[in-house]
Amino acid sequence: MTILENISLKNYNTFGIDVKAKRFVNIHSIVELQKLLSKEKDLFLLSGGSNMLLTHDIEKLVVHIDIKGISIENENENSVEITVNAGENWHEFVLWCVENNYGGIENLSLIPGKVGTCPIQNIGAYGIEVKDTITKVSVVEIETGKINTFTNEECKFGYRDSIFKNDQKDKFIIVTVSFRLSKKNHVFHTSYGAIEAELTTQKIGSQMLKNISEAVISIRKSKLPDPRELGNSGSFFKNPLISSTHFEKLQLEFPTIPNFKISETVVKIPAGWLIEQAGFKGKRFGNCGVHEKQALVLVNYGNATGVEILNLAKKIQKTILEKFQIELEIEVNIIS
Ligand code: EPU
Repeated sequence: MTILENISLKNYNTFGIDVKAKRFVNIHSIVELQKLLSKEKDLFLLSGGSNMLLTHDIEKLVVHIDIKGISIENENENSVEITVNAGENWHEFVLWCVENNYGGIENLSLIPGKVGTCPIQNIGAYGIEVKDTITKVSVVEIETGKINTFTNEECKFGYRDSIFKNDQKDKFIIVTVSFRLSKKNHVFHTSYGAIEAELTTQKIGSQMLKNISEAVISIRKSKLPDPRELGNSGSFFKNPLISSTHFEKLQLEFPTIPNFKISETVVKIPAGWLIEQAGFKGKRFGNCGVHEKQALVLVNYGNATGVEILNLAKKIQKTILEKFQIELEIEVNIIS
């Protein structure tokens, strides 16, 4: 375990923000992590860096979780339980599952980041959330170095939410995530409009995990910027929930407003639509801007600082509040 000094984090965050870590360490095993925790506790945890906005240099010791390995825990005729170490790349794991005909996460193809962080914000796309397949999450407690396991229920998953963002924030380091996936009679989730359309356009059937995964990859590539080409962190905001009375008022003024009924009294509105209506889509502000194909995504044109991006986010929030009386909540973890 070597502690490096003055390391640029540009290649460790998908926004491509060039801030420095005073001290930086790569961790390759749970034992190595426990050894580190016996000496250092004031840490800044870094995994795939795909859901964070860095606004300054990091004084704390930056710990890059790079623990690799996938193992089959148990299986029967119908399903398999797989335990994956936190440092595995999420998309490569999805492709491995698709290749092996393990079903359940194919709709989550091409999401940036690593396996260890997927439970924190309960990643979701195209009708699926990762909570639907997670059986347990193992963590190392920062204070004691002890291993602890959270069942799916104990993770208290919600829309882009879990216990690791709330009650248990900053207390644990996720080291493994276990998934229960189907081996046969897969349940295909193709009702999300864009997937159906893509399968029809490509004239491919929907009864293969590979087809769904390829359709999702194609949709994401057409809408979302590749962080290697244009720095970004996916959806910058959450889709807001508003009351049905508020929604009915807005609908009078904006008859085409897209909406998803959550309950009798709650409606979800796509933040991307609100931002587009407010005129931000495709607009550039200095070194950063709003993506031209998906207004929910803020992008770094090369040399943006985290503060510049945060200021743009605040400007968007202010405009949306004035125009629609809706408070947009930032989904990305702001390191300020
Ligand atoms: N829309 C617009 N303009 C835009 C973007 C969206 O009008 O620029 C409207 C359209 O009406 C569209 C609707 O919003 O029908 C929904 O758009 P889309 O299907 O692209 O999904 P989203 O609600 O904008 C969410 C997730 C994405 C995920 C997609 C697909 C959140 C915050 N975002 O976006 O997640 O890929 O659904 O399931 O829930 C991410 O979290 O990083 C992410 C990309």
